[in-house]
Amino acid sequence: MNLRNYTLKIWRQKDKFSPSYLDTIQVKDISPDMSLLEMLDVVNNHLITINKEPIAFESDCREGICGACSIVINGIPHGKERGTTACQLHMRHFEDGETITLEPWRAEAFIPIKDLVVDRTAFDRIQQAGGYISVNTGSAPDAHSMLIHKNAADEAFDAAACIGCGACVAACKNASAMLFVGAKISQLAHLPQGDPERKRRTNAMVMQMEKEGFGSCSNTLECEAVCPKEISTKVIAELNWEFIRSINN
Ligand code: FES
Repeated sequence: MNLRNYTLKIWRQKDKFSPSYLDTIQVKDISPDMSLLEMLDVVNNHLITINKEPIAFESDCREGICGACSIVINGIPHGKERGTTACQLHMRHFEDGETITLEPWRAEAFIPIKDLVVDRTAFDRIQQAGGYISVNTGSAPDAHSMLIHKNAADEAFDAAACIGCGACVAACKNASAMLFVGAKISQLAHLPQGDPERKRRTNAMVMQMEKEGFGSCSNTLECEAVCPKEISTKVIAELNWEFIRSINN
């Protein structure tokens, strides 16, 4: 196997009050089968052995399902491979000798914490504003007792694929969170279980989105292009429709 060398330019920032800069790090003998995060693990092991501060970055599942690995890679959230999270991006997608620039998500609502890590709890607060479904369901019904049209189930499942990573916000020139919020609202709006609190939920989530400082959608579709779960911008149209319904009783 041919091992590869890279030049990394990595956003370093001690904390939210400190100025940021791009640190240049040479990395050698990287397997093309490593993921980008595994490559960063190797870099950090080396930095620790030479008494330098390791690079702070987020990860959890490393399987493309949790949305923690928020890194802008060569100017594109999660990198240039479509439908791929940073943790699932392998070094074989980079040329030997390539310079790779790694930056955090940048948006007013995502406060820098350290290096590549930003505070994405604004998304949590939007979901909390939506609340839980509080329907009294009694004992568990038979799975097929509530019929749901196949198309509605498919739409709900497509929206539910959103992992809340925030790449949509990072890619958008307006730092809009409408793809994320649209996915969360669409997911429940298509199902009968989500219907009773549909208006309240939509209104509360949109109000919280505004409060957090996210921008509005101007239909440039960059969110859809970078979404690792390839959520369609049609959920934004649904969000607008649901919001109009929520304010017109
Ligand atoms: S670490 Fe979970 S999606 Fe990347």
